[in-house]
Amino acid sequence: MSNCDHSSSKLFTALEVGAVRLSHRVVLAPLTRNRGTPSQTFERTWYPDALHILYYSQRATPGGLLITEAVPVSLLASGSLGIPGMFTPEQREGWSRVSSAVHNKDGFIFCQLWHQGRTTHSRLSGSRPWSSFSIPIQGNSHRAKGFEPVPYEAPHEMTLDEIVQVQNEYVTAAKMAIEECKFDGIEVHAANGYLLDQFHHSNINHRSDEYGISIENRCRFTITLAQKLCDAVGSDRVAFRLAPFGLFNETRGEEREPQWVYLCSELSKLSIAYIHLIEPRFDELQSESDKLASLHSTPNLHDISLAPYQKAIKSPTKCIVAGGYDGDNCWEGIEKGEYDAIAFGRYFVSNEDLVGRLRTGKPLYRCDRSTFYGPFPDNALGYTIHPHREFADQTDKGQSQLFKMINGGIVDSAIPAAKG
Ligand SMILES: Cc1cc2nc3c(=O)[nH]c(=O)nc-3n(C[C@H](O)[C@H](O)[C@H](O)COP(=O)(O)O)c2cc1C
Repeated sequence: MSNCDHSSSKLFTALEVGAVRLSHRVVLAPLTRNRGTPSQTFERTWYPDALHILYYSQRATPGGLLITEAVPVSLLASGSLGIPGMFTPEQREGWSRVSSAVHNKDGFIFCQLWHQGRTTHSRLSGSRPWSSFSIPIQGNSHRAKGFEPVPYEAPHEMTLDEIVQVQNEYVTAAKMAIEECKFDGIEVHAANGYLLDQFHHSNINHRSDEYGISIENRCRFTITLAQKLCDAVGSDRVAFRLAPFGLFNETRGEEREPQWVYLCSELSKLSIAYIHLIEPRFDELQSESDKLASLHSTPNLHDISLAPYQKAIKSPTKCIVAGGYDGDNCWEGIEKGEYDAIAFGRYFVSNEDLVGRLRTGKPLYRCDRSTFYGPFPDNALGYTIHPHREFADQTDKGQSQLFKMINGGIVDSAIPAAKG
């Protein structure tokens, strides 16, 4: 990592993002950490507690933007242990305290809203998963420590009424986040093979109605949801995360470039706050070189860069990028104006003072992926305290395999049996 003063970089200049004015462009990427407190009142739900307040305020800086971990909009949207949602009074109270702590440090915070679609399981969400179509994920669901892996369930193909119902749940959660919890905005998780992406990808979405078949139809759920959210909370408080090169959760859709350019262009026409794009090199399971090799062998995919999507995003909507950024490669693209801000994931896990470290060129600590996904007997370890940190080096570049330890079996907190 470079070791010099970067305070004059464009990364440390102001930026209007929707309703807020940032004073720098180093953003906390959304990071699921499975450390919620289990509710005694609402089965199979979790809420944020004092540990979350500490975790987010450690990473808050004056004028800096944090994006929360992915937050389910309903019980059916939830598919992992320890994930605090945005649909119960306890969750509302907990998230209000988190946003207030970040505001006390003069920071900003957007809440990432999530629906897992076919990647959840009835043992967690209480009923058969919903998706664009009835194709299950191959193999076993291994998302919850402590459960024996079992095959993914064939999802229920959502009816038109159910699409509207889920969109309404997003709107309710967005209003709770902004009006009651006082978040500065919401980011919809429309990437990584979760519900909205299950509509985007042609290998998953085999619908024959106005939500399938063509690019416009596969994007309809996302675009109409965006419109409803803008109407409900204001376009300057709405953002979307997209993965034009995602392969996670068996997303193998064709027509990548025209479809994601269309998505960026239509979302940007709504003047939303930002679109958050994941770099092609990043993958949850593969190293950077393996991911890029997989993309090179994907049919009809010629330009393996975010450039076409960035071009489709027009002012006032801003472009945030994420995926494989470190203390060396985070300067050039922003200086050239290719994008407006950078979200850091893994380095923000292990460096709560990442903003200051980048600014002053201090070395970064490497992350310990065995502590990524809780719950653990001591949820603070690897979350708010890091007793055995080491500095990163060149061998850290390009590593991924985030989910290697998900069944690592350290501990588990029992959850009540899922209802049929
Ligand atoms: C522990 C962990 C949890 C993650 N959880 C989420 C999530 O909740 N929502 C999401 O959109 N991406 C999630 N991601 C992806 C990150 O937001 C980010 O895109 C990815 O880590 C690449 O950025 P990085 O190279 O800076 O880590 C997660 C990544 C990690 C490492």
